[in-house]
Amino acid sequence: MSTPSTATEAIVRDTLPFVAVANPLATGRVYLHGAHVAQWRPVGHGEVLWMSARSLFADGKPIRGGVPVCFPWFGPHPERSDLPAHGFVRSRAWRLSGHDELPSGATRLVFATATGPETDAQWPHRADLALTVTMGTTLTLELAIVNAGGAPFTCDAALHTYFTVGDVRRARVLGLQGGEYLDRAGGQSVRARQDADAITFTGETDRFHLATEAEAVIEDPVLHRRIRIAKRGSRSTVVWNPWIAKAAKMPDFADHEWPGMLCVETANAFSDRLTIAPGATHRMAAEISVESV
Ligand code: BG6
Repeated sequence: MSTPSTATEAIVRDTLPFVAVANPLATGRVYLHGAHVAQWRPVGHGEVLWMSARSLFADGKPIRGGVPVCFPWFGPHPERSDLPAHGFVRSRAWRLSGHDELPSGATRLVFATATGPETDAQWPHRADLALTVTMGTTLTLELAIVNAGGAPFTCDAALHTYFTVGDVRRARVLGLQGGEYLDRAGGQSVRARQDADAITFTGETDRFHLATEAEAVIEDPVLHRRIRIAKRGSRSTVVWNPWIAKAAKMPDFADHEWPGMLCVETANAFSDRLTIAPGATHRMAAEISVESV
């Protein structure tokens, strides 16, 4: 079996606090910064997630790779260019609020954060967030968003998962056939329909698939594996690779890295944006598994 060429151990940094997971089923790493899952390696497989060698590991800055949690907006803020893309929770410290070793052998970690007076200038609502990370043969990520205020609010949310692929030019994504998407490559937003059964990659790809609860599958003939991304509480799936020019513009992404990564993100945004009533909780989960082929 091939293993990914990315030396993820050399890429992750010890300059921010993290929880290291090592159980009979998998090893992994989650930073408190953003409750950011940076590594997951189930026994018998190479690293499944992707990290950039150029990632920053700094307070107030997002980590490039792994699984950034995007909230309360997705992408650039719709009105204010001074606010950070993908919201603010990916760039701040969360706290570890729970830890269990499950009978299956998997490890369950719970990370928490909340909005407060310090975030009112960016988003004037009260939300309590909990990210439950279960690492074993599968990697399950569940984001619970509680409306802790007195009025309904709307928000976006995404588990912006970066995967290691052998070569994105040879990878295929299955499962999104028949649905509509916003083609956002090159900064546009054009509505299109996914007629083919597989998405293939020949240039910058930035697709926001709408109204889909389908499982997505990455087929990777180079690493001889298939990654399945099943989901709950999510109606949007984002498929993203920056390709050459956009990668070159990102300071925290090395120019040569784009062929080795592919994002398939579990999300709710645009017409799938969430409205949460006071006291109510929305749960959105991704369940990731890998099989050799
Ligand atoms: C993807 C978006 O989810 O995230 C892309 O669809 C965006 O448009 C990408 O470029 C990375 O965003 P960022 O803020 O982490 O550079």
